[in-house]
Amino acid sequence: MSDSLDELRQAAVQARSRARAHYSQFAVGAAVRGGSGTVYTGSNVESSSYGLTLCAERLALCFALHQGEETITEIAVVADTEGAPGPCGACRQMMFDYAPDSVVLMANLEDARRVATTRELMPWGFGPSDLAAYNSRRQKGGK
Ligand code: THU
Repeated sequence: MSDSLDELRQAAVQARSRARAHYSQFAVGAAVRGGSGTVYTGSNVESSSYGLTLCAERLALCFALHQGEETITEIAVVADTEGAPGPCGACRQMMFDYAPDSVVLMANLEDARRVATTRELMPWGFGPSDLAAYNSRRQKGGK
């Protein structure tokens, strides 16, 4: 694995220790690398209203976007799963929206790992280009 992904994995392991997983006890850590090279981290933050829970990946991604990153090159997610963890569907959608050309490293604590691209995680995904194409057709007088 590249040094760059290894560094990102380490950052995700550290971020996992700051998870607020009071309800599930399932701590997740994530780290993303912006186009500038800077690394941003996140952990899951759960809510007593369970559905409001924020996943680690989305927090790290939004942190990077909020700090002004325009592109995301790499994402790492770490959890204490049996094999490599797969990001949830909501996180995959946000990756497709904001990190479509990223490499995604999924690893557990023993370092079982899988590496994929965002597009591999979201085949036939719905994204910004679908809305742009729709809006341009509508402007030309379509339905
Ligand atoms: N979780 C993540 O942070 N990322 C994922 O990709 C899957 C699930 C969190 C949400 C919740 O706090 C806990 O793991 C159990 O679902």
